[in-house]
Amino acid sequence: MATNITFTMLKPDAVENNYIGAILQKINEAGFRVKAMKYTRLSTETAGQFYAVHAARPFYNDLVSYMSSGPIVAVILEKENAVADFRDLIGATDPAKAAPGTIRALFAKSIEANAVHGSDSDENAAIEGSFFFSALEQF
Ligand code: CDP
Ligand code: MG
Repeated sequence: MATNITFTMLKPDAVENNYIGAILQKINEAGFRVKAMKYTRLSTETAGQFYAVHAARPFYNDLVSYMSSGPIVAVILEKENAVADFRDLIGATDPAKAAPGTIRALFAKSIEANAVHGSDSDENAAIEGSFFFSALEQF
């Protein structure tokens, strides 16, 4: 059964381009509530840990260096059917293929610098949320 929690990061390109407010507004308008939020920066080590599942992929080293290149915003979100609805809201990984009106179509620069992360399962939403937040920081 689907839980009601997902996890997102506003990636370094979104922060650099001053899209924090615009992206959070889209997320709120789509019915998500913020449960925890943190402006922070990943080191190459922590970015590598976060994306360890992609360690064998050809884009991994570039991704780790990109994700540690500037500050990010980590957010736990709540909504019914959160994981699937959030993936619909952000659109395809490659912004050139993302449906019109999705966050990546509106705000992403490239397949790597694609504005936002979105968890791909309830299990990973829980793992990714606890990567950044303790239980006491989630409201
Ligand atoms: O983020 P999403 O779940 O849509 O895609 P992913 O396949 O889990 O890949 C994680 C991240 O790696 C993407 O969001 C991109 O930032 C990056 N990536 C990339 O740089 N080049 C690719 N060909 C695929 C993904
Ligand atoms: Mg993914």
